[in-house]
Amino acid sequence: MEQRRNVPSALPADMAATPDIRIASGTQEWGQAVASLILAESQQAIQAHGRCLIALSGGSTPKTLYQVLATPEWNARFDWSRMVFLFGDERCTPPDHPESNFRMAQTELFQPLNIRPEQVYRMKGESDDPPAAAREYEATIRRLTNSPAPRVPVLDLILLGIGEDGHTASLFPETAALREQTAIVTVGQSPKGTRSRLTLTLGVLNHAAVVLFLVTGPGKADMVRRVLDPESEADRSLPAARISPESGRLVWMLDHAAAQQLKKMPAHRGET
Ligand code: 6PG
Repeated sequence: MEQRRNVPSALPADMAATPDIRIASGTQEWGQAVASLILAESQQAIQAHGRCLIALSGGSTPKTLYQVLATPEWNARFDWSRMVFLFGDERCTPPDHPESNFRMAQTELFQPLNIRPEQVYRMKGESDDPPAAAREYEATIRRLTNSPAPRVPVLDLILLGIGEDGHTASLFPETAALREQTAIVTVGQSPKGTRSRLTLTLGVLNHAAVVLFLVTGPGKADMVRRVLDPESEADRSLPAARISPESGRLVWMLDHAAAQQLKKMPAHRGET
């Protein structure tokens, strides 16, 4: 089912984590493959330090994953009581708004799994002062990880998506949020949809133990090719191309449709 491929990253060799690319044939297989990856990483983190700090991605792609994790089969495999849930970004909307990343996780993951509210740290998208909400969330992450500034906190696992413009989290091309060097949480600006966002910045994303890109569908194939098979400086400066954990691992979990433009697709399908 799942094929794997390692390619040189877009970043200079001395800085780059070599992406581990995994390709699943269909949506359900993709969901199962991501669930088993997250299970393995969370068990490692819990063994190492008693809990797993995971930052969830936004958008629609994680919905399939949440629905798989909420099945009795997967529910039983996780020690959910040791999971601490953070968010990689949030739209500046109330938590019950259809655009809210928290709302999606609440409905599709936290409620079905009876996750205790004290295990969930959401970004206050409803705040009428987004910069203050960003600072508040930064303080929360620093407290949770005992990482006073200027230390960069290390999260165990960060889930990310990619937009058709190459954005990831709420780091959009050519925006101040992408250039942010000191804050670990800042205000992002989206060119469409909910404009104002809260987002983790490159520094903390690239300090994670594991970054896992979740990408499905033909609409993402061109951007996946540009990020993983870069041909220009423009490709290399795409926000998603700037994700390369300094000492952590980088995994891309794709479905076949999202991987179809990659130069070196595995020759044969359906091999386990
Ligand atoms: C958000 C995200 C964003 C998302 C991509 C992909 O809040 O919008 O965190 O980075 O991951 O836009 O979104 P889809 O999964 O909906 O394609």
